[in-house]
Amino acid sequence: MHPFSQYSSLPPPCYVYRKSILLRQAEQLRQLKDIGILYSVKTNPFPPILRTLAEMGFGADAASAAEVTRSIEAGIPPERIYYSAPGKTKDDLLAAWGQCHLIADSLHELSLCSEISVQRKETVSVGLRLHPPFSHNGKEAGPSKFGIEWTQFLEQKDYIRRLPGISVEGIHIHLRSQMLDAQKLAALEENILRLALRTEELLSHPLSYVNLGSGIGIPYDDTLDTAFDLAFFRKKMEEMADRFHKSTKARLLMESGRFLVGECGAYLTEITDIKTSCGKTYYIVKNGANGFFRPVLSQLLGKEHAPAEPFYTHASPSQILLLAEREGWETVDIVGHLCTAQDVLASDVTLPKARIGDRLLFSHAGSYGYSLSPLLFSSHPLPEQIWLEEDAEV
Ligand SMILES: Cc1ncc(COP(=O)(O)O)c(C=O)c1O
Repeated sequence: MHPFSQYSSLPPPCYVYRKSILLRQAEQLRQLKDIGILYSVKTNPFPPILRTLAEMGFGADAASAAEVTRSIEAGIPPERIYYSAPGKTKDDLLAAWGQCHLIADSLHELSLCSEISVQRKETVSVGLRLHPPFSHNGKEAGPSKFGIEWTQFLEQKDYIRRLPGISVEGIHIHLRSQMLDAQKLAALEENILRLALRTEELLSHPLSYVNLGSGIGIPYDDTLDTAFDLAFFRKKMEEMADRFHKSTKARLLMESGRFLVGECGAYLTEITDIKTSCGKTYYIVKNGANGFFRPVLSQLLGKEHAPAEPFYTHASPSQILLLAEREGWETVDIVGHLCTAQDVLASDVTLPKARIGDRLLFSHAGSYGYSLSPLLFSSHPLPEQIWLEEDAEV
């Protein structure tokens, strides 16, 4: 029996999440000794996922004040929540004040934090998101909307140190998601750790954390991708952390979204019509783009497109399974029910010959699925989200 065939009785369209797979992934990341893992809430803020990770002691990488609140509601303590995103307003900062670690993405945000803490007659500890002089592959950095550019930091470090009501407690650098080459990610972390030590020197002030951002990827298509070598990465990180901690007490943090939740979720939909046109066969399904948008984006952007995370990762972002025993095969396009020709989930895929009413399941839908899709377009009913606490529940 295929591991997903048990989902055929669930009500499509729906997302289904298996706790057992989330636990399996979380256990693997817990083996990164001495590195605190922050779950990137934007990947999938579904409360049972947040609660499970909270119970396991994970922290949160929140990208909005609302994600800070959701993390707290799920049981993640404020000291394990880090709020980092560009363009925070004074209202955003006030909403999250005292509920998490704030990470300033710009000098303007830093001055807003200073203004608030002076008004409140307190000192706030803030992190700085830095845009380092190197990129994820060690080459020179290009422009970025994220963080404070390193040269600007060098020019403004005395201003930062003198800002009233502010104490810099940490740094955050995230340069790349979905890396499958553990050696390259380890080399990137080494550059970040070097920069962190330099930052401490320049600020003449010890940092209490260094957030290395995300990076650990997942294979989307076993025929094209090789899984990230976590054992190698763990060993490298242990060696680097030992060396790093000879000079500083700053604790190390990493963020993770898709590695934790990508594989624990699948998207289930139903074929509502089958038609042929000029020799092409179409399976029309409930809630295509307005259910699971990422495969549609892959179709729109095409096979040769460079990664544009998290919207486009892969030409083949999801494996598709027909949940019915059928004779024969056919090559079809799977399209949604929206009134746009662009609502295409897959083109020229070969599947067992389906019938109207059969269900199709899309893998790797646990990350950037529900939260990244334009669910309201055309006012169809929203997909449900179903949490399977036990594998045998369906
Ligand atoms: C700052 C930051 N942290 C973490 C993540 C999560 O990345 P992933 O899902 O690849 O782990 C992202 C994704 O874009 C990000 O921008």
